[in-house]
Amino acid sequence: TERTLVLIKPDGVARNLSGAILARIEAKGYSLVELKKIEATRELLEQHYEEHVGKPFYEPLVEFMLSGPVVAAIFEGHRVIEGFRSLAGTTDPTTAAPGTIRGDFGRDWGLKVQQNLVHGSDSTDSAEREIKIWFQ
Ligand code: GTP
Ligand code: MG
Repeated sequence: TERTLVLIKPDGVARNLSGAILARIEAKGYSLVELKKIEATRELLEQHYEEHVGKPFYEPLVEFMLSGPVVAAIFEGHRVIEGFRSLAGTTDPTTAAPGTIRGDFGRDWGLKVQQNLVHGSDSTDSAEREIKIWFQ
C-alpha cells in the first residue's frame, strides 16, 4: 500500500502539537508505520529540499528546520499522499482552510520563512526518496 513521509517541523514540536497532529492523521484512518524525533542536519536537509536549492526562501527554510527537533513519521494507506496533503492544507498557513492542520494551528509570524507546522511528500517518487533520507 502507498506510504508517505510526514514531518512535524520545529514549530509544531516546540508548540507541543505533535500529538494533536498525529492524532488527526490517525483519526482520518491512516496507519503509523515508523515514528521518531530527531535533530536534522544541514546535509540531510540539502537532500530533502534539493528541489528548492537556489530559491530565495531556501536558506531561511534550512535554518528554520535546524532550529529544533522535528518528528518524522511514515504513514500508510490507499492515497495517503494526497490524503495527508489535503489534511495539511495549503502552504501559507494564514490562508490555509480552517479544518486543516495549517489552517487551524498556523499563522504568519512575520518571519522570513513560512512556519507551517508539517511537511508531506507530494508524489510516490518523492515519498520513496524522502523515506530513504529520513529512515536510514
Ligand atoms: P512541504 O510539505 O513543507 O514541502 O510544503 P509544500 O509542499 O506546501 O511547499 P513547498 O514544497 O513548495 O515549499 C517547502 C517549504 O518552503 C514550505 O512548506 C514553506 O515552509 C517554504 N516556502 C515555500 N514557498 C515559500 C515562499 O514563497 N516564501 C517563503 N517564505 N517560504 C516558502
Ligand atoms: Mg513540498
